[in-house]
Amino acid sequence: MAGIVLDRIEKAFGETRVLKGVSLGFDAGAFVSLVGPSGCGKTTLLRIIAGLERADAGMVSIAGRDVTGLRAADRDVAMVFQNYALYPHMTVEQNMALPLVMRRLSAVERAPFLGRLVSGTGERRTAIKAEVAEAAKLLSIGHLMERRPGQLSGGQRQRVALGRAIVRHPKAFLMDEPLSNLDAALRHDMRRELVDLHKRVGVTTVYVTHDQAEAMTMSDRVAVMLGGNVLQFGSPREVYEQPATIEVAKFIGSPRINILPGEAGAEGRISVVGAATDAVAPRTTGKLDIGIRPEHLVIADDGLAIIVRHVEFLGSEVLVYARDTSGGDHLTVRLDPQAWERAASHETLTVAPQPGKLLAFDAAGNRVGLISTETAAQVQAHVPSRRVPRYV
Ligand SMILES: Nc1ncnc2c1ncn2[C@@H]1O[C@H](COP(=O)(O)OP(=O)(O)O)[C@@H](O)[C@H]1O
Ligand SMILES: [Mg+2]
Repeated sequence: MAGIVLDRIEKAFGETRVLKGVSLGFDAGAFVSLVGPSGCGKTTLLRIIAGLERADAGMVSIAGRDVTGLRAADRDVAMVFQNYALYPHMTVEQNMALPLVMRRLSAVERAPFLGRLVSGTGERRTAIKAEVAEAAKLLSIGHLMERRPGQLSGGQRQRVALGRAIVRHPKAFLMDEPLSNLDAALRHDMRRELVDLHKRVGVTTVYVTHDQAEAMTMSDRVAVMLGGNVLQFGSPREVYEQPATIEVAKFIGSPRINILPGEAGAEGRISVVGAATDAVAPRTTGKLDIGIRPEHLVIADDGLAIIVRHVEFLGSEVLVYARDTSGGDHLTVRLDPQAWERAASHETLTVAPQPGKLLAFDAAGNRVGLISTETAAQVQAHVPSRRVPRYV
């Protein structure tokens, strides 16, 4: 099984510690993203998996084999880069065939004229041609085989680069921002194509991106990185709904999560900008940062008064950009299109969080578990049973 295990990987460039002990395990056949802001160490980590960079400490294993000491060429993984790295003087077919030609034909056999004289070369070349054609079919680029990279669009070049990786049948694909040179519409299409391709080929894929939407829409699991650490590793749904830290909550989700000042008062009862909620942080008191996703605020009779600054009608949703009346914190509210009239015609609105949707973070930025007042009351009533409260 071609899973990948990273165990306490450390890397520094001079004085700068770029990876501070990263441990992750990727299941065989999974599509996993490393996501985080520029400079957080994603490319360095990918290059360490590929063997293009050596870690200062830690272990890399691929398909159950410790490859920490192996060269890139001996790891049987294929890198796909942002800039495609195609040879401009070769045709698409030649570019795609290159890894197989290098592996299966000797230097003499590869020579243009001498090679033809060596017996058996023809058969091997025919086999390579057939394999390249198969990969080309998978990527719908069969009609481009005679072109050179200069005669291709960005999306076509990216497909050729993918094709060159596929023909090798590697144990893993390692992709470093492969779509970032494409325009927005094409990038969107290529996301689906890559996911489709992954489903058909089934090879473990590690995908590096700074674009959280890309990571969220494509991956089985997402590793959120910041400053050389992995803050959280989980499914897209987990990192969105149950972020481990305030940094993860802020990085994942668009529009960004609202972070508002809050407090755990008597019996842990949470208030947000002074407005009471039905959430309770058991055994917690004092100031907290409260996170509320834009879609988890609804127009209500009672709650948080906001000043509407700007309203966007996006067809399937309405985005309200606002400030709260007291502290002046910026807020985004995502409403149903039916709320358009009301949002656009009012200077102020009152909004309230949907029950069970608040996120709370302590001073260190770690998430604090919340329960509803109802659950808290039940827990109170059953104090001797010491039941673990159900977190909402
Ligand atoms: N070869 C290198 N020499 C010195 N510093 C480097 C080198 N490669 C990367 N870095 C630094 O390491 C940090 C992480 O870089 P990188 O892994 O490329 O981040 P990301 O891909 O997440 O944007 C950055 O601060 C970058 O400047
Ligand atoms: Mg990078």
